[in-house]
Amino acid sequence: MTTPRSILFVCLGNICRSPLAEGVFRTVAAERGLDGLRIDSAGTGDWHEGERPDPRAIAIAAHHGIDISRQRARKQNRADFDAFDLILAMDRSNLDIVRAQAPAGREDRVRLYLDHTLGRMADVPDPYFGGPDEFASVYRMVHEASLALAAKLA
Ligand code: 4NP
Repeated sequence: MTTPRSILFVCLGNICRSPLAEGVFRTVAAERGLDGLRIDSAGTGDWHEGERPDPRAIAIAAHHGIDISRQRARKQNRADFDAFDLILAMDRSNLDIVRAQAPAGREDRVRLYLDHTLGRMADVPDPYFGGPDEFASVYRMVHEASLALAAKLA
């Protein structure tokens, strides 16, 4: 794979994990001087389309000085396979869903987030039914993964 210039983060609802992955990576990429990247997030489900991120996701990002409140949820769609050269799924369930929709020959651009960034074949656990500790844990994973992803792209 050539160095990706456009990256889409995908989870289930696009209100907890992938908006954090988007917002934290956008900040880390800017800090590292990575210019010209297209960075976005989407969900495989459409229940929250048009909504801002979950207040708990907004809060943990704000705690670390990152504003994700202007992001809006959307459903992942077929055009994303043309628009993005790297699609990172936050867990294996969503990886399977997105890969199954990929046009022939485009499956390779869909990767598991923690595997691609940190070499860990592991999911970012869904924090939606959890509490602040789960959101803090997701934030830590996403921050570590964002640093690794920026290093790969530098
Ligand atoms: P996310 O979390 O996939 O990290 O955005 C979820 C958000 C909403 C729901 C499930 C997971 N939901 O069932 O509405």
